[in-house]
Amino acid sequence: MALGLVTAGESHGPALVAIVTGLPAGLPLEKDAIDADLRRRQHGYGRSPRQQLEADEVEVLAGLRHGLTLGTPLALVVSNRDHANWTWGMSPWPPEGEPSGKGTKPVTLPRPGHADLAGVLKYGHDDVRNALERASARHTAVHVAAGAVAKALLKELGIAVRGSPVEIGGETSDEGMKQATDAARKDRDTLGGVVEVVATGVPPGLGSYAEKSDRLDARLAAALMGIQAVKGVEVGEGLALARRRGTEAHDEIDPGLARRTNRAGGLEAGVSNGEPIVVRAAMKPLPTLMRPLDSVDLATGDAAQALVERSDVQAVEALAVVAEAAVAFELARAALEKLGGDSLEDVLAAHRHYLERIASRWLPR
Ligand SMILES: Cc1cc2nc3c(=O)[nH]c(=O)nc-3n(C[C@H](O)[C@H](O)[C@H](O)COP(=O)(O)O)c2cc1C
Repeated sequence: MALGLVTAGESHGPALVAIVTGLPAGLPLEKDAIDADLRRRQHGYGRSPRQQLEADEVEVLAGLRHGLTLGTPLALVVSNRDHANWTWGMSPWPPEGEPSGKGTKPVTLPRPGHADLAGVLKYGHDDVRNALERASARHTAVHVAAGAVAKALLKELGIAVRGSPVEIGGETSDEGMKQATDAARKDRDTLGGVVEVVATGVPPGLGSYAEKSDRLDARLAAALMGIQAVKGVEVGEGLALARRRGTEAHDEIDPGLARRTNRAGGLEAGVSNGEPIVVRAAMKPLPTLMRPLDSVDLATGDAAQALVERSDVQAVEALAVVAEAAVAFELARAALEKLGGDSLEDVLAAHRHYLERIASRWLPR
């Protein structure tokens, strides 16, 4: 069975949920490792006070016994602590009693660049909140939890995945990124940036060129583009390759199959080639602005300013963790396609056999 993921949950609803299917039995999981990634997602220089409020933690409802997967669907839950302030406004059932707390009044001021207008037009909502609650990046928390599970599997195969910010507001040094964030905060503005995810220890042969939907480069691009606010994806040296000659664009092969360079970012013909996989994602500036953009009040049709809601200045460090999780999940899916078995023992045996086959034929003794 292919590795699968379905998630549910609104930003201020009771909880976020993920169900991961297709994991082999016997995979050890650690709560601390999952919670550590949830904390990494929440912390970052440009984030709003909500992040301190949430202190995310994973709860497992199914698929795990005594720290080992059962080979059955794994159900992960991350509660929204902030829901305590929204029990009337985000009640799943018709709320009882007088309106109280947050979310009691309909939102009618769509933010340019967010899901607000497209969402109400598409689904026929009167309250923009019905669109923004799910479109918000809050539910990336359970994607990060699922990514941590994928990383546990990859670790068994000697594969490590790490995401990091490489550019914020056009700045590439740590100090420059901080200064740009401070300046944008002062101006009540927002920023975007670029993150890079590197996966090491990936064996050659994950993905395939047989169909475009099998190509690992295409799948990683879709996984990254599926994250809120990501507007561009690059594999290896990506766009820069378009401006070079062939003699300066490819990675020459030495005896023993070592490469002199890794301009392709570890992917040729949609297949991993044994070099580190390197992908980048570009994030647009966040659309919720403390200095709102021009919009229209959907209740009256008149010109108005867009909704102002507590929001991050930039979330590029958080995106690095979310992108790492997305890449890890897709790599775990591709690894199980190649090496899949019902138990971790079977997966590891297939991995060993595969590496031995390549080494015995091609690598120097
Ligand atoms: C980790 C993360 C945090 C985000 N935080 C915010 C935020 O605080 N405020 C905001 O307006 N948008 C935020 N976004 C971006 C919006 O969710 C996104 O722009 C919106 O859903 C519209 O989707 P699109 O940008 O992909 O078109 C965040 C995105 C990510 C990945």
